[in-house]
Amino acid sequence: MESTKVMVEFTLNGKAQKVAVKPTHTLLKVLRDTFGFKGTKASCEKGECGACTVLLDGRAVNSCLVLAPEVDGRSVVTIEDLNKDNKLDPIQEAFLEEGAVQCGFCTPGMIMAAKALLDENPDPEEREIKEALAGNLCRCTGYTRIIGAVSKAAQKRKGAGAGER
Ligand code: FES
Ligand code: FES
Repeated sequence: MESTKVMVEFTLNGKAQKVAVKPTHTLLKVLRDTFGFKGTKASCEKGECGACTVLLDGRAVNSCLVLAPEVDGRSVVTIEDLNKDNKLDPIQEAFLEEGAVQCGFCTPGMIMAAKALLDENPDPEEREIKEALAGNLCRCTGYTRIIGAVSKAAQKRKGAGAGER
């Protein structure tokens, strides 16, 4: 049976959006299918891998577990928002420099989880980085480079902040 659509108004990457969604559709589906933001990856779609991580009101969430109507009146940020004026975010730079992008499938989710951490805690210990990434699975060569990249990103962000007026 065709379910009735509901209107959802929210901020997506800083821009106000109004969209009709089926109540059963997830935020992940709406981001990918309605807005064409394919950087947010669809993998397990059961909340187990973190590939679909986005920021919801600044906190990292699995967008496959959020129903689209739940974002009404809220703010969503996806990986597409990080590349401003064709310039990579320091977290993206650090992932590239540290060789933390392996096959790359988990990378957007990792980066969004790292962003949520660093926005809240600009100088995390290794233990805190591991905790923040605990919900993000990578099936490639391991986590050492990824953890190193988040640590480097923290240093880069501090450096950038020091240069700001
Ligand atoms: S696709 Fe959402 S947690 Fe795996
Ligand atoms: S880089 Fe391939 S799954 Fe993580």
